[in-house]
Amino acid sequence: METCATRDLNARMGQNIKDLLDEFPVMGDILKSYGIGCVTCAVGTCALKDILEYHALPDAQARTLMARLAAAMGLGLAPTEEPAGPEPAAPRAITYSAPMQCLVDEHALIKRWLAAIPAFARGLDLESEADRRRALGGVAFIRAYADRFHHAKEEDILFTRFAGGHEIIRVMLDDHATGRRHVQGMQDAVAARAREALAAHLLGYRDLLTEHIRKEDEILYPWMDRQLTPAEVDDLAEAFRQADRRAAPGLADRFAQFIEGIEPSPAARHPA
Ligand SMILES: [Fe+2]
Ligand SMILES: [Fe+2]
Repeated sequence: METCATRDLNARMGQNIKDLLDEFPVMGDILKSYGIGCVTCAVGTCALKDILEYHALPDAQARTLMARLAAAMGLGLAPTEEPAGPEPAAPRAITYSAPMQCLVDEHALIKRWLAAIPAFARGLDLESEADRRRALGGVAFIRAYADRFHHAKEEDILFTRFAGGHEIIRVMLDDHATGRRHVQGMQDAVAARAREALAAHLLGYRDLLTEHIRKEDEILYPWMDRQLTPAEVDDLAEAFRQADRRAAPGLADRFAQFIEGIEPSPAARHPA
């Protein structure tokens, strides 16, 4: 029989997480202790029930988490006979399907660029023609590799397999759009020789994409893999192979060389 507490909890499950965190800030700490970083997500429009689905905790952990969240919201649930489930001690190893692994591998090159951005931004002199070319090289990498190659695979192929207006996909699309505005800002800053504006867009892009890639690798792709049938995985893999064939030959190798050229030397990374 449905009790008042479970009815109230069901209503809370449909609320968006940012509103809940505003009302019950301690929920952010509880979610964080399960590796769920809603506090750091800039959008926060996912409903609580969706967040639990996206993260797919083991049953015992999910029940304990729900009991703790309910208590934080002042909802006393009936006690269960089951012992409390363990809290996660370490991130779980994730196994991806082949096409999802392909996207994770593409992230690796993008993450090398993100790691190089602070030193890259510090070292640019926009009065120098050579440095303006280097800065535009970074813009070209983002546009050609991160956006037209990688994000296009997500937007034109992967996300289209998931109809129904999923909030998590909308968040990812918002991130892509924000990233494009940063890239336009970089290009404009180079043209205006505005060093500080360029650095602000580079670092803003780095912060955005670092968190975006973490969400995709740890939450989005595993959630998608759980929805896809083996036949749909094969179909996705073939669509990615076709996208790879349409890409400019040697695209990844060319940009890997660019990234190698701007990465700080090991000695600079680890000074004696
Ligand atoms: Fe993405
Ligand atoms: Fe991605």
